[in-house]
Amino acid sequence: MPILVITGTGTEVGKTVTTAAVAAAAVAAGRSVAVLKAAQTGVRPDERGDADEVARLAGAVTAAEVARFPEPLAPGTAARRAGLRPVRPQDVAEAAAKLAAEHDLVLVEGAGGLLVRFDEAGGTLADVARLLNAPVLLVASAGLGTLNTTELTARELRARELELLGVVIGSWPDSPDLASRCNVADLPEVAGAPLLGALPAGAGVLSPADFRAVAPSWLSARLDGNWDAEAFRTREAA
Ligand SMILES: Nc1ncnc2c1ncn2[C@@H]1O[C@H](COP(=O)(O)OP(=O)(O)OP(=O)(O)O)[C@@H](O)[C@H]1O
Ligand SMILES: [Mg+2]
Repeated sequence: MPILVITGTGTEVGKTVTTAAVAAAAVAAGRSVAVLKAAQTGVRPDERGDADEVARLAGAVTAAEVARFPEPLAPGTAARRAGLRPVRPQDVAEAAAKLAAEHDLVLVEGAGGLLVRFDEAGGTLADVARLLNAPVLLVASAGLGTLNTTELTARELRARELELLGVVIGSWPDSPDLASRCNVADLPEVAGAPLLGALPAGAGVLSPADFRAVAPSWLSARLDGNWDAEAFRTREAA
């Protein structure tokens, strides 16, 4: 699995923090890692983007962005409003392939959810995954509403004959409500793919040293971690 595309059930679900955890676990397993933010919106040239945040938390990884646009909008809209050339799926695929030649693992983080548009032709992260023939990891929110967006995303991937590697819960609450606890069983069911981990709420504010030390315990072996899915289900599921 040299390239893994990371999408989410929406924006702010924990894609960046999850990408950092996957990167940290892979680094701990001795792999060289690059993270590529397909299109960074909502940051000025001097501000830190998602790829920078992954590098801060995960450590020795190469961080790259294809392009950035100042307004916090879908990349296609942000590019148009800024009068800048939009990112095309092919640009992202080429940048990822280049990084894959020099790293064991390349993590491509999208913007928002799977069908957020990059350009005026309607190109999306799904097209990037298709061009790269890369599996997709879906970061899902924990609570009410996530079953619908998870199933919609899984169905779209299937319709495009893309591989959904699994689902990671981006932020698992300290005191999960009933919906979150039921979702532990229902998420893999509606996704048609395994639950591959859960990041505890607050993971993103750990010190980088602590984050790297515990990241593998949030992720299954498929993601270079040692997360005990059965113990998680026994402890947390309704
Ligand atoms: N497990 C977590 N622990 C602590 N904070 C978290 C966790 N998951 C997400 N957050 C916080 O929630 C916010 C959104 O998370 P994140 O940036 O990872 O979302 P995203 O899915 O990458 O969003 P975007 O679509 O903008 O890329 C951030 O402020 C982040 O620090
Ligand atoms: Mg992000």
